[in-house]
Amino acid sequence: IRAIRGRDFITLMDYTTEEIKYLLNLARDLKSRYYQGERHSNVLMGRTLLMIFEKPSTRTRVSLDVAATQLGMHVIYSNPQELQLGRGETIADTARVVDRFVDAIAARVYKHESLVEMARYAVAPVINALSDKEHPLQALADALTLWEIKGRLEGLRVAFVGDGDNNIAHSLMIIGAKLGWEVRIISPKIYWPTKFNELLTEDVKRTGANIMISDNTEDVRGTDAVYTDVWVSMGMETEAEERRKIFRPYQVNAELMRKAGPQAVFMHCLPAHRGEEVMDDVIDGPQSVVWDQAENRLHTAKAVLLSLLA
Ligand code: CP
Ligand code: NVA
Repeated sequence: IRAIRGRDFITLMDYTTEEIKYLLNLARDLKSRYYQGERHSNVLMGRTLLMIFEKPSTRTRVSLDVAATQLGMHVIYSNPQELQLGRGETIADTARVVDRFVDAIAARVYKHESLVEMARYAVAPVINALSDKEHPLQALADALTLWEIKGRLEGLRVAFVGDGDNNIAHSLMIIGAKLGWEVRIISPKIYWPTKFNELLTEDVKRTGANIMISDNTEDVRGTDAVYTDVWVSMGMETEAEERRKIFRPYQVNAELMRKAGPQAVFMHCLPAHRGEEVMDDVIDGPQSVVWDQAENRLHTAKAVLLSLLA
């Protein structure tokens, strides 16, 4: 595999199947060592991770901080308002400056292009902590969760129900294309993913993956997992009312899970809007694996930091 060290982690499209499997294997190994009592190592001692988050975050912020700390790193967290970014200093200038101080930058941004701009001016790896387009750290944790539960990484069938053109849906398609999954995006037509499936044509050909787009919730039948996410992503608040109406038939409730079948687990990147995209009895029910997904954010974050920096 190509060396991962020193690279950016902005999109999984830049990573090969082998590299993604390497990251997942490493995460699994780190998780088992963690369970055996290894809480701390000094591999990355003396290194600093800067986190700049334009939007709120619980899982990504805390898991990255804990992951870095457990590897011996020092972490600085800030929102742009507390940096000169908030007063108009450009991303390019900010990146050139902090690049002289820190070893990695994790950023959560409204515009994916901001990450690309940051990476252009920083030699240090830039890690996507969520953008409008992708959430690669989440996709890694999702793949690890499915691997643990289904006992295999290849040939999985995952239905994503809801906003088919959001960051989570995109990242699921990307990792699915890389790992040879059947990914069914089930979404109202106006929210079908734009351009993402075309970008994945080569991966799909190579791995035998199948990316299916439909507006029919019947297509959850027989899948290994039913995945959903909020109808109103951060930054989409002005469309909230309209989205709640349009996505209503795509709610994941007991009836939809029955349609999917007992073999299907329920997945959600969280935070959930209970009563909207998912009902309590599903997210709290026996098919739900959402807490395992959240837990795996720590171990996959550690795998990413280690691979980029060690
Ligand atoms: N799933 C996820 O990224 O959650 P946060 O927004 O809490 O980081
Ligand atoms: N699609 C959601 C994911 C949050 C983790 C959002 O962007 O708000």
